[in-house]
Amino acid sequence: MNANRSDALVFFGATGDLALKKIFPALQAMVKRGNLNVPVIGVARSAPDLTALRARAFESLKAHGGVDSAAWEKLSSLLRYVRGDNSDPATYKALCRELGDCDHPAYYLAIPPAAFATVIEQLATSGCTKKGRVIIEKPFGRDLPSARELNQVLLRVFDESEIFRIDHYLGKQPVHSMLFFRFANEMLEPFWNRSHVESVQITMAENFGVQRRGAFYEQVGTVRDVIQNHLFQVLANLAMEPPTRTDSESIRDEKIKVLKAIPPIEPENIVRGQFEGYRQEPGVAPDSAVETFAALRLGIDSWRWQGVPFYIRAGKFLPITCTEILIRLRQPPTMYKRYNLKSNYVRMRISPDFVIAFGFNVTAPAEDSRSELSELLASRSPSAKEMDAYERVLGDAMASDATLFAREDYVEEAWRIVDPVLKTGTPVHQYKANTWGPSKVKQVTPPGGWSDPIVNNGSSSS
Ligand code: BG6
Repeated sequence: MNANRSDALVFFGATGDLALKKIFPALQAMVKRGNLNVPVIGVARSAPDLTALRARAFESLKAHGGVDSAAWEKLSSLLRYVRGDNSDPATYKALCRELGDCDHPAYYLAIPPAAFATVIEQLATSGCTKKGRVIIEKPFGRDLPSARELNQVLLRVFDESEIFRIDHYLGKQPVHSMLFFRFANEMLEPFWNRSHVESVQITMAENFGVQRRGAFYEQVGTVRDVIQNHLFQVLANLAMEPPTRTDSESIRDEKIKVLKAIPPIEPENIVRGQFEGYRQEPGVAPDSAVETFAALRLGIDSWRWQGVPFYIRAGKFLPITCTEILIRLRQPPTMYKRYNLKSNYVRMRISPDFVIAFGFNVTAPAEDSRSELSELLASRSPSAKEMDAYERVLGDAMASDATLFAREDYVEEAWRIVDPVLKTGTPVHQYKANTWGPSKVKQVTPPGGWSDPIVNNGSSSS
């Protein structure tokens, strides 16, 4: 066995929502692909015993993606259970016993961040950490000071190379493929810069609300929930320089350089919104000022990007569920001005399907003096063979490949950009469900307007 590969997976929060919706399906997929053959030890309180945990896991598979009999049988045989409270030393004694000879386990904390410090300290005092690594879920703090504090807690016990901060967005196949698309194709590089790009916009729209997670959402809001992490990662993939090598540190070094070149967001460059009815959600304060929508503009002060505005918008209860990027190019110095030309663009859709399209001006059929936009388009639906985001990130963490994980310095840079403006408490504007956010969004609208993705045939208005 590769010495860097984890020889057990211990996961805290084995009966939680995330475990049931995402982790058990990912574990079954890993088994099926031949990537998981070590003990999987669930730690939780609510299942009385291993039989009950197995039954929950089975139900979760039925509800989320289906049961593969052979893979399930194998996963079920790998499954162990330690019942206990996260703060009780007896839990860790039992865990050490269960680990037996395994001496480099992966500890996956699928639990609320407030419990991280307790678990990590208990692991250290019990001697359970051995030569282990830790995998944690976002949010990594809720501002810069708390992120630093969390990093200190982690670094007291684990080396940075053994800390895997999951951003599941990086595990999505289309996000994962962005660097390949950029750096495996010579065609893009000549125009991928400030001389040709007029603006970049990223939209992450969801057509549902907070889905019974009101109490969680109250602690975060859209910027902390998806912009500071998922969408900044997408932005870094779009804007980074080619890494000198393909190892994880070379790639992560380039991403951090992008964030370092972004000044903190000014209050006039962000509009926050809240869908009507949010304050009536369970767990939400009746006078909540937490945003369920945000649109912002930022700049990257680098040789490649200075002067190009980058726009990001994300929100709940928008008209559709889709994540899409639009890179609009400048107008050519042309004699065809009277044709009312549109800007060329590159459109990349990350979900629900994977689309790459180039928008061109062409003469309208049967009307030589009119231009219309036509797309050169490549698209594909997610294939059953593709790894799901959680399967990819858990597999990579266990194999010690850190490329898809946020490094300590990256997390802190990301907070530096959004923290001051979040603390100024800019106003929150109400918007109706099924709209593209509050009308105030005009304040941060790209030249040429927001491109609202349309889901059905992969096309978009731009
Ligand atoms: C999570 C956020 O990190 O990402 C959710 O907490 C959001 O609010 C989700 O809905 C989106 O991820 P996906 O994979 O469902 O597109």
